[in-house]
Amino acid sequence: MTTFDPMQLANVGVRNLQPYQAGKPIEELERELGIRDIIKLASNENPLGLSSKVRAALQDTLAGLARYPDANGFYLKSKLAKKFALDTAQITLGNGSNDVLELIARTFVNAEHEVIYSQHAFVVYPLVTQAIGAKGVAVPARDYGHDLDAMLAAITAKTRMIFIANPNNPTGTFLTTEAIAAFLAKVPENVLIVLDEAYSEYVSEAERAPSFRWVQQYPNLVVSRTFSKAYGLAGLRAGYMVSHPAIADLMNRARQPFNMNSLSLRAAEVALDDDDYLQQSVAVNEAGMQQLVNFCEQHGLPYIPSRGNFLTIEVGENAGEIYQQLLHAGIIVRPVAGYELPRHLRVSIGLPEENEAFIQAMKEIIANLCKSSR
Ligand SMILES: Cc1ncc(COP(=O)(O)O)c(C=O)c1O
Repeated sequence: MTTFDPMQLANVGVRNLQPYQAGKPIEELERELGIRDIIKLASNENPLGLSSKVRAALQDTLAGLARYPDANGFYLKSKLAKKFALDTAQITLGNGSNDVLELIARTFVNAEHEVIYSQHAFVVYPLVTQAIGAKGVAVPARDYGHDLDAMLAAITAKTRMIFIANPNNPTGTFLTTEAIAAFLAKVPENVLIVLDEAYSEYVSEAERAPSFRWVQQYPNLVVSRTFSKAYGLAGLRAGYMVSHPAIADLMNRARQPFNMNSLSLRAAEVALDDDDYLQQSVAVNEAGMQQLVNFCEQHGLPYIPSRGNFLTIEVGENAGEIYQQLLHAGIIVRPVAGYELPRHLRVSIGLPEENEAFIQAMKEIIANLCKSSR
């Protein structure tokens, strides 16, 4: 009999790892329930779909796909550098920002270190920390958001990295420029601060932190952004990190040589110039957010005020049941019990008619739950 046991061979951190739980794909629900016309409001994607400019650029790129992509992403880095007044040597490209978030941890953190993040913060931070075998320190949230004072107090001699999501997913909570600036000034230089700004484009320019400028001032600060949300390229996988050039140089050594493909590189270049699409994304999001907020207020449902492209609603102890009933109504939202929010559901902002379909389904579900509890 074989005694082969891969579990014993695996790295300790990986043995206890729970895989990332993605939003349920539309095709999966179609297969499971045999229903069509499903509305997915589960993964904070852009409801506008691909812009026509990106679609055309992708078509043009097809002919070159037998060749490897540009491993250094010259054109995309140049465009990013020009748009945000950066040096190309500060930029690390990634297969989505997830890739660079993992890369920065793999480059700097080992099993001896501690990594700080907030309770209810994006799940990838504990996942990468655990995979490395480092000690994760989850700091209790304040009003569902990052408690920066408590995070500062959690720094020890072993702390190597602090993750901060602004706005945060799945809570949508937001830290002001002043709050982050005060925090940065107090973190020791041997602790890297990862500021994850995946939802930055949904924040008004007046309120958006000057994070890329801060990178000049604080060499231990790195900032990640993505093309998956407001730029509408989630399926292509495109993201980047802005850092001190020496940090980018180290990450460049540890990354996969072709971590962005030819299609995602080209799509991101075009998307970056497509201001009309970006503005429309933000406008659709603001209107949809208002639609959902109005519904919550009319029905006395508490929600966490959100600065992202999603709203996390406290539906109560029946959250799991409501999620299931929404699935049967053809609407996929996101349970967030894994984020220590068992009474909430996270709903991505969709097109007006998609939001309306969610609202109508919720009204019915709530009415039925009230009836059955009588
Ligand atoms: C806070 C935050 N950071 C990073 C990501 C990663 O996105 P991507 O890898 O698509 O860039 C997400 C995705 O949902 C997110 O919510």
